[in-house]
Amino acid sequence: MHVKRHTQALLMVALLGAVTFSSYGRAEVPDAPRQADLRHLLKQDCGSCHGTRLTGGLGTPLTTTALAGKPREGLIATVLHGRPGTAMPPWQGLLNEAEAAWLIDQLMQGTALP
Ligand code: HEC
Repeated sequence: MHVKRHTQALLMVALLGAVTFSSYGRAEVPDAPRQADLRHLLKQDCGSCHGTRLTGGLGTPLTTTALAGKPREGLIATVLHGRPGTAMPPWQGLLNEAEAAWLIDQLMQGTALP
């Protein structure tokens, strides 16, 4: 009985954590430390396919020129859900909508890389 209560308490903590995490994901713009994480992710993870200068590799180029005229919402959806049938993986487990949107904005504005 004692052990069981303990397990229930742990479950509650895990659940609360999940709820807190998903509502945190509603934030409009990622804070400065998170922006630094996202830039790191872009260079290390996205860069492994799209090239460290994002000029293309296994993945298509993500330069301002390459993205010009493409619908922002569609690009955000590509980042979150990936492109089935291609190497582009879904990132929704690691990035929330605001973070994916922020990344796409940096890419489209040409402010993604230092
Ligand atoms: C394992 C390889 C791989 C990784 C890692 C990867 N991508 Fe991709 N990505 C691709 C490929 C391949 C395509 C082209 C899919 C197609 O043919 O439509 C693509 C397409 C895209 C597109 C659409 C481009 C366009 O012109 O429509 C965006 C935006 C994008 N990726 C962003 C990202 C971001 C941001 C990350 C990191 C969070 C990332 N990708 C990580 C392989 C990758």
